[in-house]
Amino acid sequence: MVVLITKEFSDPIINFYEEGIYSPSTDSYLVIDYLKKCINEYFFNEIPIRNITKILDLGTGTGIIAIFLQILKIQIPDFNPIIYASDISQKALKNAKINERENKLEKEIKFIHSDLFNSFPNSLKHSFDVIIFNPPYLPSSEIIKDKQEIDLSWDGGKEGLELILRFIEEAKLFLSLNRQSFIYLVSSSRTNLKWLGEKINFQGYAHEIVAKTHVFFEDIMLNRLKLQ
Ligand SMILES: C[S@@+](CC[C@H](N)C(=O)[O-])C[C@H]1O[C@@H](n2cnc3c(N)ncnc32)[C@H](O)[C@@H]1O
Repeated sequence: MVVLITKEFSDPIINFYEEGIYSPSTDSYLVIDYLKKCINEYFFNEIPIRNITKILDLGTGTGIIAIFLQILKIQIPDFNPIIYASDISQKALKNAKINERENKLEKEIKFIHSDLFNSFPNSLKHSFDVIIFNPPYLPSSEIIKDKQEIDLSWDGGKEGLELILRFIEEAKLFLSLNRQSFIYLVSSSRTNLKWLGEKINFQGYAHEIVAKTHVFFEDIMLNRLKLQ
């Protein structure tokens, strides 16, 4: 009989040094709590944690998810992936780097400034076992002139899905082919979920909801996508 010893993991220290950076919210902690569960089970679904070599936290914001993963590496010797964190916002990356330092991690996370995967080097193609994206997923009801930094965190396009659709298409090129690999993607009941599900299937992914929470007027879901 295998006895699982459940460890408690604390959340990283997160501070704000730039304006307009997304403040970790219910959606961020839905991801963090799910990662805690995976680590306690020693599996990211079917992937044993010791087989995971690269994880990408896309749209890292304050860096909370990437920093949490990097801290886990210190606590769990079997968990040793290289952690990448990217964002379209230079300010977010600057803030995330400071938060990395404040968590006593010395330039260990690999930061990439990029609009989705546009500026990723070719060497990272087909290399990630896990890609995590807590995206902007709210519909922009009107065309925003003069976009502010914070709008990048919530504006998912006219229907709230445009950026996610680009992501699920482009991510295929960066998921590892050698081993099993997954995407963990946050979505909200405020977007057209039926349509999103159809698009995910159309791109060749199997899809299931692995965690869910309710906050005020919406359900927030963590979706696991796996190429078929
Ligand atoms: C909802 S916030 C999530 C932040 C953080 N991951 C968290 O969970 O707290 C979305 C993040 O995606 C970034 N983002 C928006 N559009 C992007 C794009 N096209 N490429 C990369 N990052 C993007 C935003 O700047 C923002 O930091």
